[in-house]
Amino acid sequence: MTLYAHITGWGMSAPEKVLTNDDLAQMVDTNDEWIRDRTGIERRHIAAPEESSASLGAEAAIRALKVANLHPRDVDLIICSTSSPQHIFPATASVIQDRIGAINAGAFDLLAACTGFIFAMNMATQAIRGGAIRNAIVIGAETLSRLVDWNDRTTCILFGDGAGAFVLQGSDEPGGVISSVMRSDGSGGDLLCLPAGGSAMPATPQTIADGLHYIQMNGREVFRFATRVMANASREVVDRAGLQLEDIDLIIPHQANLRIIDAAARGLKLPMEKFIVNLQEYGNTSTASIPIATVEAAEAGRLRRDDKIVFVGFGGGLTWGAVTVIWTGPFPSAKPINFQQQRRLARIRSWLRRLVRFLEGLIWGRRG
Ligand code: UT7
Repeated sequence: MTLYAHITGWGMSAPEKVLTNDDLAQMVDTNDEWIRDRTGIERRHIAAPEESSASLGAEAAIRALKVANLHPRDVDLIICSTSSPQHIFPATASVIQDRIGAINAGAFDLLAACTGFIFAMNMATQAIRGGAIRNAIVIGAETLSRLVDWNDRTTCILFGDGAGAFVLQGSDEPGGVISSVMRSDGSGGDLLCLPAGGSAMPATPQTIADGLHYIQMNGREVFRFATRVMANASREVVDRAGLQLEDIDLIIPHQANLRIIDAAARGLKLPMEKFIVNLQEYGNTSTASIPIATVEAAEAGRLRRDDKIVFVGFGGGLTWGAVTVIWTGPFPSAKPINFQQQRRLARIRSWLRRLVRFLEGLIWGRRG
């Protein structure tokens, strides 16, 4: 039986278009100094009209598969964590499954706001450890720029678009995800929410006129909550792994606000050098922020085999969580896979399936 779920691949995708603090100062009553001082953010990436959570997620997933050198047909499960899905349904994960040609995978979305990637990692790990699957892709993908009120300076300065993905693979070798913490407090749901567009408040001309399809947030309350739970969850997850905080090589936190990460570092009595921070470049990409930060850390050579890493997040719901990981890297594999060819095949396969469905419809329609 498979006992351990290792992170063997990682990938990210961010839109090319960048919006600086100075750009925002042209749009709302704000300025670069305020945004840097209060958040640490300098720029964020904004999706072009043709980009979406699925296109960014699929790109990140393919890159993660490349690092792992895992064939798309060998993926058993795709979990896409997102608060800005393509549609309420079908799941963004299903769109990604089709685009990457993961023909043997089950795919579903998970919504736990900015903590979603942590929850998704934990779900995939449990499925691997339980023996139900061997290979999973976990994706965090957001296009929050589509849900932000660009006239609201308290929220529009924070968020950015992007996606990140991990490949998780089972093995008997010890390592990978070794402990987890998952928590929610629904009593604080109204502190960070998108009121309309769901079944409680379907879209009407009035909800649109009232701006209820935009993100609404009580920034101060979320800030207070975040500084408390980041340190607590990190402590708890390290304890559950049977480790001490001093054993941890690196913490990869949700990238919301530099002051929140700084408060967590002080709470844990750990130096800031142990924390990966890249929010200055991307802003808060919600559930995508942890995998994006991980990819940049890996590419900068900051992740070494057997490093003990804590991933910790918080967000709307309210939700918060953490996992401890012993870093592995790609499993040895025989022949490099031609991913360009796989992409082309996925496109053709998808087109053929639609065509067959169309033709079947004609035949059945005629018979009917
Ligand atoms: O992934 C989870 C998502 N959410 C978060 O992580 C958000 C957590 N909260 C925060 O990061 C911070 O609360 C914010 C960055 C959102 C706000 O920072 P703050 O230090 O808590 O500011 P504040 O809300 O207490 O506002 C201070 C002042 C206010 O003016 P007055 O009432 O003191 O005159 C605001 O109106 O700053 C004003 N303000 C701004 N000024 C310039 C608020 N937004 C802006 C702005 N530019 N963009």
